[in-house]
Amino acid sequence: MTIEYREYRPEDAIEVCDLLNLVFPRAAISHEGWAELTAEDFTAPVAVLDGRIVGAIPMKRRVYRAAPGCDVAIWVLFRVGVSADHQGRGIGSGMQRAIKEFLHDRGDALLVNTCGKASRQYQFYRRNGLFDVAGPQRFIADPPDNGSGPAMDGFRKIKPDEFLADISRWVEIHESCYGAAGGYPVRSEAYPYGWLTSGHRRAALPAVVYGIIGPAARPLGYAILAESKDSVRVHELAARDGDADAMAQLLAGIRSLGRPVTLSASYGTPLWDILNEMCARRSAREERVRPVIVHILNIESAAEAVWKDVPQLENVAVTVKTHTREGTLHPAESPEKTILLQLHEQTLSRLLMRRLNVAQAVREERIAITGALQSDIDALTEALSPCPWIYHEVDGL
Ligand SMILES: CC(C)(COP(=O)(O)OP(=O)(O)OC[C@H]1O[C@@H](n2cnc3c(N)ncnc32)[C@H](O)[C@@H]1OP(=O)(O)O)[C@@H](O)C(=O)NCCC(=O)NCCS
Repeated sequence: MTIEYREYRPEDAIEVCDLLNLVFPRAAISHEGWAELTAEDFTAPVAVLDGRIVGAIPMKRRVYRAAPGCDVAIWVLFRVGVSADHQGRGIGSGMQRAIKEFLHDRGDALLVNTCGKASRQYQFYRRNGLFDVAGPQRFIADPPDNGSGPAMDGFRKIKPDEFLADISRWVEIHESCYGAAGGYPVRSEAYPYGWLTSGHRRAALPAVVYGIIGPAARPLGYAILAESKDSVRVHELAARDGDADAMAQLLAGIRSLGRPVTLSASYGTPLWDILNEMCARRSAREERVRPVIVHILNIESAAEAVWKDVPQLENVAVTVKTHTREGTLHPAESPEKTILLQLHEQTLSRLLMRRLNVAQAVREERIAITGALQSDIDALTEALSPCPWIYHEVDGL
């Protein structure tokens, strides 16, 4: 069987939309919704067999914050699908190889929000060079013992129009809450707030509501929620300046809606502390870890985006080598020395997404370093200092 792998073209729209609707019948998208979704910042590899498209990997381009002041161009993969009668024959892997070629100079990294390490999909991505950089945990918080409970003081649901009339306020609260963290697409009027109102999103998420805590004139926090008969899912939650009390009140308000609340939180955040305390009191439980996995497309462009200048390394060239490729992390015109880091691809993903402490990785021999003094290792640790990553479910849609 000869398969052609090539980049998606606009004339593939209906064929790819129909193929993926067969692979994912519960998340079918209309042709209009697909046109809207693919209108910008979109591409995909497709696999063609005998003139018919049998696989596609849709991707949206988003500007992700790896660390404060360090934004990277990320292609987020979703609805990765091969037609049922052709699965397990190397077509998905062939498309992954094609992406890495045609996107090499058009982005820094590929990213997938997975549903858990035990899934076959996770194994598929790992085998194709995408590795864990973050491990947000999904929790389920129970409603109060007495059912729906009293409406939480100061918490109220607001209508989409009211929420969307004031997007700059939510962008500001988000920044004040998560500005020191990375791991999410940069917030703006367009994303995710404006995007949530697009036709295909509305069709997929009919019951999005918004909740706020604090006075209407100066809310202390907000949440984006999807309500169903049996549960409430929190897609995003933020409190002004990361205030833990406001977050706790917001969560209490959402629980008072009277259904189990599903939400994600990452270690090292106030929300994670609140949920773990609830786990200890048995009013919440962890559902599972949902790893965020990344493949670095272009070592040089990713490194340029995430490198923080430090005086000690100004005239030092820093290069990397994995078992499959080599690259430059820090160029220098006439370098006084060259430092080489040898590491596995999975360590490279973490390093360039600012999720690795270099000095610690050297101590643990996850990085073999050549040409560096301890003071260089310390300077490298500063240039690529690790940053906590947070995760909002809205970004996994
Ligand atoms: C996941 C998928 C895109 C992989 O493409 P593929 O052409 O089947 O995969 P390859 O032949 O290149 O690689 C084989 C590996 O893919 C994974 N895989 C194969 N069939 C799969 C299936 N039906 N569902 C999930 N993963 C599958 C396994 O890890 C497999 O390795 P294994 O046989 O050792 O277990 C394809 O199987 C598919 O469309 N699955 C259903 C939809 C899906 O789960 N998409 C991913 C989530 S968005």
